[in-house]
Amino acid sequence: MARLNDNYLKLQAGYLFPEISRRVTAFADAHPNDKVIRLGIGDVTKPLVPAVLKAFHDGVDDLAKGASFHGYGPEQGYSWLSQTIIDKAYKPLGVELEASEVFISDGSKCDSANILDIFDLSCKVAIGDPVYPVYNDTNVMVGRTGKADEKGYYEGIVYMPCTEENGFAPAFPSEKVDIIYLCFPNNPTGTVATKEVLKSWVDYALDNDAVILFDAAYEAFITEPGIPHSIYEIDGAKKCAIEFRSFSKTAGFTGVRCGLTVVPHDLMASTADGEKVSLNQLWNRRQCTKFNGVSYPVQKAAAAVYSDEGWAQVQEIIAYYMENARIIREGLQEAGITCYGGVNAPYIWLKTPEGMTSWDFFDKLLNECFVVGTPGSGFGPSGEGYFRLSAFGERENVEEAVKRIRQKWGK
Ligand code: MLT
Repeated sequence: MARLNDNYLKLQAGYLFPEISRRVTAFADAHPNDKVIRLGIGDVTKPLVPAVLKAFHDGVDDLAKGASFHGYGPEQGYSWLSQTIIDKAYKPLGVELEASEVFISDGSKCDSANILDIFDLSCKVAIGDPVYPVYNDTNVMVGRTGKADEKGYYEGIVYMPCTEENGFAPAFPSEKVDIIYLCFPNNPTGTVATKEVLKSWVDYALDNDAVILFDAAYEAFITEPGIPHSIYEIDGAKKCAIEFRSFSKTAGFTGVRCGLTVVPHDLMASTADGEKVSLNQLWNRRQCTKFNGVSYPVQKAAAAVYSDEGWAQVQEIIAYYMENARIIREGLQEAGITCYGGVNAPYIWLKTPEGMTSWDFFDKLLNECFVVGTPGSGFGPSGEGYFRLSAFGERENVEEAVKRIRQKWGK
């Protein structure tokens, strides 16, 4: 009989979002006449903007004609898309990149998981707590950890607690690590890192020969000036960081699927013999072997995000979601509920009412307000006692959800 990868059996329960979905579906089936408002998973609700849709359609039409048909594309993505991203998203930040440092993919969830392929199992990993569960679970799956303890911490991972006391800003790892996951603006807490904070991480990584895996999926939601949108705005970051970006939340691509990963040529890691090898070279090799690229129409649609028209349209939608975030944050704060985030990120991280666990609050909110959120403890032990609400809903649903929560728990 084939032997399975028993690392999977170390994982606790199901993946967070399908588990929530299962509970919500069961509830909705049992209450067919009640309107359930879903502010759980960070899934967008606004349709693709017109400029993007047109490019998407044009891309499909190209495939209908022999002269403009496209078969396999480059595994790394079309260079016209990589170059557009560099020109429109990185150059304005003062960041110079080469097209061969940008890898187009089907999303940053997959990339932040797949990147583990190019690191040895012996690498020690540090992750935040709470954290986007993909970072934790994929390290368990590849066998980098032992079992979870009773709190949910896996043996072998170094956790960096992000708590109210430290402003949800992770402190440097408590021991020497090789890989550090950072996510800013943060999912789930909504906090951001200033230039000084990010510089301290880059300096730390350079001093400790560590690689930072920087998840910038929510950078488009930064509203305050002076906050870095890319880790490469910090000197030295190209020598120590890989950056993930996504079109999912920025341009409504959660169902379309497109993201990118930047692996700078200057970024090295060492072989068992101490020889330095470029991680760009390895990631390229990995992608060429395991990935056949993103479909041509999707890449056309992604490039249209950066046209003048597309960019203006996308910004309007981002502003709409951030207004939702303000409505949730201020509405709940006025009712005496402690809230964080929601200023530079589309997530509001709230404290559950006194004595209520995250899952207790989830159940109560679902059963009594018909509102779905995400229990903070699902993101890690330090998320216990917190709850995440997504700002990606329709305005009337967001307003209705805030009203219902205030009626129930407001002071
Ligand atoms: C979330 O809700 O945290 C995200 O939507 C999950 C994801 O992007 O995979």
